[in-house]
Amino acid sequence: MIRIPSFVKNLKPYKAGKPIDELVREKNLDRIVKLASNENPIGPSPTAIKVIQKHVLGLNRYTDPASHDLVQAISRKYSVQPNHIICGHGTDSLLAYIINAFTTESDEVLTSEGTFIGIYVSVRKKGRKLVQVPLKNYGFDLDGIYNAITEKTAMIYLANPNNPTGTMFERTEFEAFMAKVPNHIMVILDEAYTVYAEHNPEYPNGVGYEYENMVVTRTFSKAYGLAGLRIGFAVGPDAVIESLYKVKLPFEPGLLAQHAAVAALNDDDFLDQTTALNKKSLELLEKGFTEIGIQQVPSAANFILTIMPNEQFAATFCEECLNHGLILRHVNTFGIPAGVRINSGTLDETNFALTVIKNVYQKLSGNLN
Ligand SMILES: Cc1ncc(COP(=O)(O)O)c(C=O)c1O
Repeated sequence: MIRIPSFVKNLKPYKAGKPIDELVREKNLDRIVKLASNENPIGPSPTAIKVIQKHVLGLNRYTDPASHDLVQAISRKYSVQPNHIICGHGTDSLLAYIINAFTTESDEVLTSEGTFIGIYVSVRKKGRKLVQVPLKNYGFDLDGIYNAITEKTAMIYLANPNNPTGTMFERTEFEAFMAKVPNHIMVILDEAYTVYAEHNPEYPNGVGYEYENMVVTRTFSKAYGLAGLRIGFAVGPDAVIESLYKVKLPFEPGLLAQHAAVAALNDDDFLDQTTALNKKSLELLEKGFTEIGIQQVPSAANFILTIMPNEQFAATFCEECLNHGLILRHVNTFGIPAGVRINSGTLDETNFALTVIKNVYQKLSGNLN
């Protein structure tokens, strides 16, 4: 009989937001709106679609393992040397590579409670110990994280803006933190939601720093609208990037993903449209939640974390919203038991969501009294 290591036996598989097709199969609904995975509601960048169509006939060939054209495009856009950039199959993949390459058995990875579940999964999958510091006002407590460093800490994970809370730490706080963290500890700065936050002059744009112990990850899954293609990149010191190439699967990311990402990276019209819609949708949601009386956390990203009266209420609330065709994300598995996250949608989707949420919340609150 094959022996399954205990750290694998104890893993909880990653549970993504419910796919639309699954809900269609389960329930007989006229309309389904998914606002559960922080995707771009407009669709993929149109220039990316054109490029994908153009390159489909090249699918019989293996991809370029070094993503040459995409690395060059990222290098030009962010003024970063190409040997400081690596592309992968989305941030999730890059996080797994970083943990593989830079931690050993006895090492600990330090982060916050209530942050991106993907890092929890990646650390545990590798059998490493995860150490979590409580959130402070729903944001990363950088002082708390610094104070929790021990001789076993090999890595610190930060997400800015954070998922699922949408909070952002500012430049001065971040720089003070980096100045204190010993430089043998690698800091991962996950910037999946940068496009929504970078207009803020206080936003510490990670790719603009050159810390010798920091690696920044970015994804094309959110604002660029390419979640289904699986593509992201990391920026860090050349020695770090060189090590990541050694652990990366050679033909990742795929051919279409590489070409589409080059196109999407510079599709400024699409990004402007995306951020403008996000702003309007979030404003509608904030106003709606205030009117309904739902507690919410101010967001710097493309989603809002709402806080329900308790975990059971949050679970029933999400289930009831599903019954009305609205897919939301209960973020108990992220470490926020009463939290429900909703991302921005088209204005029509947002209004639909608010109607469902109002009905369900009021019905359940009535039951609560
Ligand atoms: C903070 C954060 N990092 C990374 C990811 C995953 O990105 P990717 O689709 O590139 O794997 C997400 C997706 O929800 C996220 O919220």
